[in-house]
Amino acid sequence: MTNLSDEILHWYDLNARVMPWRVSPESKKQGHRPDPYHVWLSEVMLQQTTVAAVASYFIKFIKTWPTIFDLANARDDDVMAAWAGLGYYARARNLLKCARMVVSSHDGVFPSTQEALQKLPGIGPYTSAAIASIAFDQAATVVDGNVERVMSRLNLVTTPLPTAKPQLVEAASKLTPKLRPGDYAQAVMDLGATICTPKKPACGICPWRTPCKGRKEGIAEKLPMKLPKAPKPIRHGAAYVAYSSAGQLLLETRPNKGLLGGMLAWPTTEWVEGNPSDAPPVLANWVLLDEQVRHTFTHFHLILSVLVGTDVTNQPTRGQFVSISDFEPNDLPTVMRKVWKLAQTRDDSSGLAPTKI
Ligand code: ADE
Repeated sequence: MTNLSDEILHWYDLNARVMPWRVSPESKKQGHRPDPYHVWLSEVMLQQTTVAAVASYFIKFIKTWPTIFDLANARDDDVMAAWAGLGYYARARNLLKCARMVVSSHDGVFPSTQEALQKLPGIGPYTSAAIASIAFDQAATVVDGNVERVMSRLNLVTTPLPTAKPQLVEAASKLTPKLRPGDYAQAVMDLGATICTPKKPACGICPWRTPCKGRKEGIAEKLPMKLPKAPKPIRHGAAYVAYSSAGQLLLETRPNKGLLGGMLAWPTTEWVEGNPSDAPPVLANWVLLDEQVRHTFTHFHLILSVLVGTDVTNQPTRGQFVSISDFEPNDLPTVMRKVWKLAQTRDDSSGLAPTKI
């Protein structure tokens, strides 16, 4: 009789998804090893983000900064701009800090143990386990949302999340094999993403269909149970898109601390649950647009009014005017791209209408 890890590793040998940072089981057999720099970069990008969203960013990063030394030497603004659109921007700030620490304190070589990895910025229990197992084949227990779902179904864990977390980690830990732990970790994640999906799992073709207790009880799709989440509050604010008389745009880099920290942005008011009250960043002829921008962050929904300003008459209190030819909308985080898109819809006969870029 084969054991559970053998069954899923066999399935992985035949079904591993192709990813730009991954070394296939086939290629590993020929002696190729994953590059720890690639594993680390991809796993930081994959925190709270899907494989589909990450792939193009990963490729862009390794083309621009092929080694950890290149990344450590990068300009902060360039890295933040390259990360724009991926969200959770603290990850990008920590990424740079981590690259610089690996270069300055570890000669550019990633440590291989979970303990040492967790001393680096932006590397917590999940990422350290993923790097230790995938890059260094250590028997670390990797638990993300996919693994939680697979473990809850396989073991019929009916306690709701997040209470069930320690139980699911223990179940995952017991199954982690000493041989090929990196492939095993990726196999469970792939299983969760392609077969043991949140809705309509494809139990009929699952390598664990026989031992799966959730399937046996007919409740696989209902697992994992989850405690109800508190509804997200709604915050309001205003974003200011100002054009100087020379057609330049007023932009700022947000403070490093806090939401969208270190990112290029339009000046905005505070975002509050009541009425926002800050003054515009510059005196201008401000037009309030009819439509608003909506965006959802982890802990709140945001509704932004958008004001477009022309005929600027003084120096701005914040930010800098940037020539339109130097402005790259893709350097903005998603919510600020939405503001720009809306600002461009303004119909203005003054000749200073936002030009379509
Ligand atoms: N999700 C996060 N890391 C992953 C990986 N290495 N393989 C598949 N899915 C993942």
